[in-house]
Amino acid sequence: MSAKSSFTLSVLMAIGLLLMLPATTGHAGEPPPALKEIVETCASCHGQDGVSAIVNTPSLAGQPDIFIQYQLVFIRDGTRKVEVMQEMAKALTDENIRDLGAYYSALPPPPALADAPAVDVAKVAAIITQRHCDSCHKSDFSGQGETARLAGQRPDYLIKALSDFRAGVRRGRGMGTMMEVSVTLQDPDIQMIAAYLASKP
Ligand code: HEC
Ligand code: HEC
Repeated sequence: MSAKSSFTLSVLMAIGLLLMLPATTGHAGEPPPALKEIVETCASCHGQDGVSAIVNTPSLAGQPDIFIQYQLVFIRDGTRKVEVMQEMAKALTDENIRDLGAYYSALPPPPALADAPAVDVAKVAAIITQRHCDSCHKSDFSGQGETARLAGQRPDYLIKALSDFRAGVRRGRGMGTMMEVSVTLQDPDIQMIAAYLASKP
């Protein structure tokens, strides 16, 4: 199968998955019983409450439900290469993925980074306005649907993600756009954007 058709297939599968009825879950913040053991594994990298303390590893708390589900489908089928997660993602059922989306999206988002390096806010705002980052990620950068939350995300991870899109090595829903908006960013721009977004509540 060509890379393009397998990509299209994984998008169709993701859409099919999202259209199914949501599984009944426990209270917000409590993983449903079937998820307890799985979430323990995830927590070893993504943090106990979905707030990551590990370099280059994203916080998941407060990410949009659908964004999380899409990324897990992409990681499970290898469209998005995350080697450290590949094996465990393969073991996730569609139901697990729906429950994980519901669970992490309901957790309180990570707090704004207090000691982010100072940035020239006018300069960052100009880059963001020119490239319409806020029209997809929302003006408070809390994300929506398939579009990630960026506010309060780890700055090292934001730098990695933007560099991966720029280099064309990360594939996913927003691939075309994210490559387009990042391809002309210089390293100092990316560092500035990351510091700015990480310090957003
Ligand atoms: C060994 C460490 C490790 C474990 C365990 C792990 N992950 Fe990850 N995960 C990562 C890293 C590192 C990335 C970022 C990869 C990259 O740079 O693209 C990631 C990315 C993700 C993403 C994409 C988030 C984003 O903002 O793009 C999701 C969703 C995710 N993981 C969910 C999970 C879930 C659910 C589990 C448990 C089933 C899990 N992870 C277990 C290391 C881990
Ligand atoms: C047309 C809509 C759109 C625009 C404009 C856009 N994004 Fe995105 N962005 C997305 C989508 C959709 C994703 C999820 C990508 C995926 O599935 O791989 C994403 C992912 C990201 C990620 C990865 C987040 C994570 O947790 O993995 C970062 C960082 C990001 N965008 C930053 C930006 C910045 C900075 C700008 C402006 C320079 C921008 N985006 C403009 C739609 C957009």
